[in-house]
Amino acid sequence: MSTAATVLERCAALGQVSEEPDRLVRRYATPAMRAANELVGGWMRDAGLEVREDAAGNLIGRRDGPGKTLLLGSHLDTVVDAGRYDGPLGVLAALAVLERLWDRALPYAVELIGFADEEGIRYGTTFLGSAAVAGRFAPAWLALTDDGGVTMAEALREFGGDPGAIASAARRPQDLLGYCEVHIEQGPVLERRGAPVGIVTTITGQTHAEVRFLGEAGHAGTVPMNARRDALAAAAEWMLAVESVARRRQGTVATVGRIAVEPDARNVIPGEARMTLDVRHTSNAVRREAIADMRAEGQRIAAGRDVELDWDARGETAAVPTSPDLTDLLADAVEAAGHAPERLPSGAGHDAVQMAALTDVAMLFVRCRKGISHNPAEAVEEADVAVALDVLERFLGALR
Ligand code: HGY
Ligand code: MN
Ligand code: MN
Repeated sequence: MSTAATVLERCAALGQVSEEPDRLVRRYATPAMRAANELVGGWMRDAGLEVREDAAGNLIGRRDGPGKTLLLGSHLDTVVDAGRYDGPLGVLAALAVLERLWDRALPYAVELIGFADEEGIRYGTTFLGSAAVAGRFAPAWLALTDDGGVTMAEALREFGGDPGAIASAARRPQDLLGYCEVHIEQGPVLERRGAPVGIVTTITGQTHAEVRFLGEAGHAGTVPMNARRDALAAAAEWMLAVESVARRRQGTVATVGRIAVEPDARNVIPGEARMTLDVRHTSNAVRREAIADMRAEGQRIAAGRDVELDWDARGETAAVPTSPDLTDLLADAVEAAGHAPERLPSGAGHDAVQMAALTDVAMLFVRCRKGISHNPAEAVEEADVAVALDVLERFLGALR
């Protein structure tokens, strides 16, 4: 029987598949992603699944059956210096359950998808893989370049995908029964509640932007303080304003995760500061109000310091409710496995966000040690993974 121990061993093996020797980073359409698809594709084949890759590079393992298709999955890409569970746990937990059910007839077909990009690290996007499956991949993204100037189209072609045929990766809603994703919680809620697993109610909405302050570079020794147009000082003031806007609106989280300064030298007043902004809330209205306030603060600060503000909106995804029917079925499965059906929202984004545009979605969270994620210290307990497998097996058995 495929066990939680197998899942953890496979997560560990996949955690070695990286672009860098000393830390885990596996971005879209890189040789490391190629190796990950080979490894996981091999396990899928061993489990009797029919394996293929779609035009966007998503890895898909199919088990035939009558009627509609249930989609299972999560992502195989990672953030930089990642843990080994964010994404892969969902793919490998679902694979283990399909292995257990190999000789049991189900009244539907199943496809297990390892999405090729969820984190969006390489191209500053997010959910590329699931967007393609949901038919929401914008062709303009193919022209985006990575830090090395490689376009997404070039990278995907090199990977073995087909940028001209991305539309062929889209699935038809009428063919699908739903989508279910297992994922590490990435937060402390289940640990606090003493629950091994939890059922997701809503996935938070996100807004992303690239924000630039443009001042004037100058000599660090000669330009008096009252004559400077220091872009980095403006950025510093704005970052603190972002923090206080988020704190004023309960439940809002806002992060400036990346900053670059030009010309980036000790004795030059910064002429330009560029930042990323990530703002989230389970209410779309609150998130939009917060963004408007952050932008207004940026304009106020820029005007006060005689610098320019350039605000490049990098898209948003709305908050997504999970399906009441699938979620109730998941709750029944949790109870049948002997646990209370804890429900909680997700502050992290997931492939389920895109899949919700296509079909009903449900998500099962697995307790995470100390809530740590996007960090190599990310950890789950084998016993909790065992509960997740048990729940998913019961869920698949009950689904019609
Ligand atoms: O950023 C997120 O929420 C996700 O991990 N991609
Ligand atoms: Mn993540
Ligand atoms: Mn994830």
